[in-house]
Amino acid sequence: MKAVLPAAGWGTRFLPISKAVPKEMLPLGAKPVIHYVAEEAAAAGCTDVLIIINQSKEAIRRYFEPEPFFEGILERAGKLEALAEFRSPAGLARFQFVYQPEMRGLGDAVLMAREFVGDEPFAVMLADTVIAGPSPLGRMVELARTQGRSCVALEECPEERVSRYGIAGGLVEADGLFRLDAMEEKPAPEKAPRLRRDDGTQLPPHAFAARYVFTPAIFDALQDCPPGRNGEIQLTDAMRTVMEKEGFYGARLGGKRLDIGNPKGLIEANTSLEALG
Ligand code: UTP
Repeated sequence: MKAVLPAAGWGTRFLPISKAVPKEMLPLGAKPVIHYVAEEAAAAGCTDVLIIINQSKEAIRRYFEPEPFFEGILERAGKLEALAEFRSPAGLARFQFVYQPEMRGLGDAVLMAREFVGDEPFAVMLADTVIAGPSPLGRMVELARTQGRSCVALEECPEERVSRYGIAGGLVEADGLFRLDAMEEKPAPEKAPRLRRDDGTQLPPHAFAARYVFTPAIFDALQDCPPGRNGEIQLTDAMRTVMEKEGFYGARLGGKRLDIGNPKGLIEANTSLEALG
């Protein structure tokens, strides 16, 4: 399966450092955040990875491309351990890059992947979010292969934060697996959809958790989406169209989502390093 990592956002919550260093390149220990995301993609069997960047985020491209000149220097100096570390990013998968010309939101970024993806299901992984503990991606990839359905990772979300995230509603199908029938982006708490058991009892709110597997139907849905808030193309609107047409699964996250899109999140993630392995 192919994976798409959107990494072209402004990163305004990380200004001024994001002026020179993409937030996806900020360190968790000795590796940048996006390295962990690429490792997770590789572990789920994604051999080809497309990273969506823009001109000010060339550092991401350099990080994942081989550097024969410096590799030669390390090799000739016999620094083989350093050479292995140096080569490790490029060795994770086959990487390609595409530029998002205008920052028109996550939906627009995913649309940039149409040619790369072709006619197969594919994974989308937000490049500023790391999963500590088991990744849901393997199960999601399997569902897309066997059922031909899209799937989004879900994480329980405190009531007072539902208006910050995409929130899912639907029915429990199996342990940690849901058949979705509602999706709302940043709803008011009283209007947020809910997951429900067969007997009608509700689970706490569940938010989208930065990992998706889509069928190619998402592209037509995105193409037909009118721009919403701030002229941005909302991924959630296109997901709802796909849900209504083909059905959509939600898979509960076994691990914990570490959102490093803001400085506090990065500090917290650095204190959970041992959980990242
Ligand atoms: P965010 O909404 O968290 O990123 O997108 P942002 O817009 O960079 O953040 P702020 O609000 O300005 O601080 C989640 C992921 O989607 C990518 C981002 O790079 C991030 O990895 N993204 C977002 C794009 O690739 N293109 C976009 O137009 C928006």
